[in-house]
Amino acid sequence: MSDLRDKSFRTVEWSDAGVVMLDQRLLPTQEVYLTLTTPGEVASAIQSMVIRGAPAIGVAAAMGVALGAVQADRLPGDRFAREFESCCALLAATRPTAVNLFWAIDRMKRVFATIAGQPPSRIASRLVEEALAIRREDEEACRQMGQHGAPLMPDTGQVLTHCNAGALATSGYGTALGVIRAAVAAGKKISVLADETRPFLQGARLTAWELAKDGIPVTVITDNMAGHFMKKGDIGAVIVGADRIAANGDTANKIGTYSVAVLARENSIPFFVAAPLSTIDVTKPTGEQIPIEERDGREVSHFREHRISPDGVAVANPAFDVTPHRYITAIITEAGVARPPYTTTLAGLFKS
Ligand code: MRU
Repeated sequence: MSDLRDKSFRTVEWSDAGVVMLDQRLLPTQEVYLTLTTPGEVASAIQSMVIRGAPAIGVAAAMGVALGAVQADRLPGDRFAREFESCCALLAATRPTAVNLFWAIDRMKRVFATIAGQPPSRIASRLVEEALAIRREDEEACRQMGQHGAPLMPDTGQVLTHCNAGALATSGYGTALGVIRAAVAAGKKISVLADETRPFLQGARLTAWELAKDGIPVTVITDNMAGHFMKKGDIGAVIVGADRIAANGDTANKIGTYSVAVLARENSIPFFVAAPLSTIDVTKPTGEQIPIEERDGREVSHFREHRISPDGVAVANPAFDVTPHRYITAIITEAGVARPPYTTTLAGLFKS
């Protein structure tokens, strides 16, 4: 099977000089890699959207924690432990909705706890190994999602996606876009309709960029066009990623996902979510308990540096919304496909 994934870019990598990230704020016009040399720089890169997308944020945070440990590994054990805790707290304070961030930091904390008495240099190298494992496992999970999800995609026609749930949002390959990549690799003749995804334009800038690199046909539409194309019968399926999935299947994803899901139901179009198990938060019974990030209003009131709404007029900028589970046809994970009732089927995936 051909490996549909353009290898000419890397979302996030570990290097001896620091954590290397493609600056997603500059895409698609400039491909610039930044080397972040302190945990504080990694934290501000996550906060300012140099890197974004739930799984990629988790990988970046784990690498930020590992970086902090390496830089503190000559300190006495107690000061090293305090430094480790403060790095974890710094990175955890960056973005509240994507649970992969907290999942990855907790995983680093568990590793630390199991070897806490060992010399700091030994603990630091073990933390680097763990961050690299999180990165590797994330890409493997995406490929497994691709295998589970490809059969659910139509054989021909258009699939709509919202935001960017691709290689840029993960260690590589992508969740929703991974399913599309696997379907195309399996011979399905599908093309993608990409919502532009206001206000940060992840669809227009990032999804279109990475699909075009792979030669997968993609058409960008503004967010308010989706219903029109659904009603005309131009869309065979919708597939999106997720930032946090509650135990009952309610799914937080990029703002606008809920509207797309309601439109899909109205037009009898299947609506799929693709996400790794690390995105499922079993501590939240429903979507009501998922914290929604409110971002700087300038993302709405301005287009790049240009003001587009009158000075002094209020704007709101919730970065995510929650799609109730009743609108979701199936949730595709690396462990298999869950269908309603999600409270039972999602829990079952953790046991398989
Ligand atoms: O604000 P962003 O760009 O981090 O939001 C990203 C999304 O909403 C993605 O759809 C989600 O993280 C899934 S990425 C595989």
